[in-house]
Amino acid sequence: MKDIFGKALLDYQSGNYSEDIITWTNISDKDELPLPYLFRDYSEMPKLEQKALQLSKGTILDVGCGTGNHTLWLQDKGFNVKGIDSSKGAIEVCKQRGVTNAEFKPLLEETEKFDTILLLMNGTGIFQEIIQVSKYLKHLKSLLKPNGQILIDSSDISYMYQDDDGGLWIDINSHYPGELDYYLSYKGEKEVPMKWLYLDFETLNTACQTVGLKCEKVMDGAHFDYLARISL
Ligand SMILES: C[S@@+](CC[C@H](N)C(=O)[O-])C[C@H]1O[C@@H](n2cnc3c(N)ncnc32)[C@H](O)[C@@H]1O
Repeated sequence: MKDIFGKALLDYQSGNYSEDIITWTNISDKDELPLPYLFRDYSEMPKLEQKALQLSKGTILDVGCGTGNHTLWLQDKGFNVKGIDSSKGAIEVCKQRGVTNAEFKPLLEETEKFDTILLLMNGTGIFQEIIQVSKYLKHLKSLLKPNGQILIDSSDISYMYQDDDGGLWIDINSHYPGELDYYLSYKGEKEVPMKWLYLDFETLNTACQTVGLKCEKVMDGAHFDYLARISL
């Protein structure tokens, strides 16, 4: 990984904001990901994220914390919160913004235990592929203290495969529709292609059951998205 994402975040943080990140996938055209959105405060967050913050308790791990939006809000409220991210640039930005406990660390390398684990802004994306969901859920389970909870958001993106008449243009029985090839570029530089996973609630619920976790939907979002609470 070239950490193009982290470079863009560092540019914004140091006052060098001149253009946004461009993203596209195997099923969607190029789109801008506005850098200011990755530096949002509580009032700019979707209701799902605000709800996740309100439900957070005890010691907290913010997985894929990005620039630390959620970590910082919780830290300011007095919580013991740690942010981890697999982007060095993102963690550098967290530190510059005042996050006291931010570590460059991929989720599978985390070993501490927590009361609340947050995965926000399509948290299931970090699982990358449907075949990796069990592995990630088992690992997250191993990081939970007794009575701990995982708060995670995602979307059912099967609507993206519908044409104007409502017909589906792929066989969703042969390919899980939420498994995407994800591409990113910034200032003309392209990141190595990544996998990014959107999981509908029922699929997440079934996957949780197979690894001995409970899963409940906390709320629906504005556009096929939802917040789930996973517990032991
Ligand atoms: C869509 S961004 C969300 C950032 C932040 N949670 C927010 O809401 O603004 C996803 C973040 O997850 C990080 N990430 C991806 N895979 C990861 C992994 N395996 N472990 C830790 N972080 C990861 C990326 O570097 C990125 O910062």
